[in-house]
Amino acid sequence: MTPDTPRTPDTSLTSDTPAPAGPPGPDRPLSRKTLLRAAVAAGAAAPLLATGGAALAHAAARPADGRTLPPTPYCDDGDDPTPDQMEGPYFKPNSPRRTSLVTSGTPGTPLTVSGRVLGRNCVPLPAVLLDFWQADHAGAYDMAGYAFRGHQFTDAAGAFTLRTVVPGLYPGRTRHLHVKAQAPGEPVLTTQLYFPGEPRNATDALFDPALLMDVRDAGGGRDARFEFVLDVDGGPGPTDPPTDPPGGGWAAGRSYAAGDRVTYGGRDYRCLQGHTAAPGWEPPNVPALWRPGT
Ligand SMILES: [Fe+2]
Repeated sequence: MTPDTPRTPDTSLTSDTPAPAGPPGPDRPLSRKTLLRAAVAAGAAAPLLATGGAALAHAAARPADGRTLPPTPYCDDGDDPTPDQMEGPYFKPNSPRRTSLVTSGTPGTPLTVSGRVLGRNCVPLPAVLLDFWQADHAGAYDMAGYAFRGHQFTDAAGAFTLRTVVPGLYPGRTRHLHVKAQAPGEPVLTTQLYFPGEPRNATDALFDPALLMDVRDAGGGRDARFEFVLDVDGGPGPTDPPTDPPGGGWAAGRSYAAGDRVTYGGRDYRCLQGHTAAPGWEPPNVPALWRPGT
């Protein structure tokens, strides 16, 4: 039996164990493919800075045309796209349509995953099919039924919310969710979402930090956010303001809004999140706040 052969749930199996090295194929992870760039959704600038701007910098996408969505994420220019990931053996078609995979009695740590799906031009995409599947709290997949499987569609604002539990670990993999995302009439993106701070992230060859969710404790459970950016045309993009935003040189103490442009050290930067500048937050030092370019 190959690692990609469907089988019944068995926590002793290394079902999603990465395929051996070789040419990319349908069941092998395709590194740096072009379908989307996902981003860890960000909260306020201060907590991000407190935890290190690099965490956002490596997870967030960059805009193709310099436009940004406040506060983050921002769209990708396609030169460093988020990879898709292998489906693994546990996908089942025809999952029920539902946004909650749990009841009040479902064992496990409650988990709410929310976010948006955006087109490559940063426009939220409505009616995107999101089909989630995952292991239960003990690390087992339900192949006989549809436990911890469900699909839904993004709303008019491109938003989604999934209520579930934190998936359990099973041999060979770090903690993860599986998801397929498909805008109407567009190709299916198959990928996986990961949890920060998991020891196995360092040893799972499939793990990619670009697919990390922003996970926080919330009321005895966890809240996770993730923003998908699909490689589809979402229609007209954001409209530029009628006049250019404030420019000039960067200065501590000055308040900046997303989209503002400054020059620092002879280089142009665009503000990604509104904030009041402080010493040490010079644009080259805080990629969570400033992106090179105009
Ligand atoms: Fe899995």
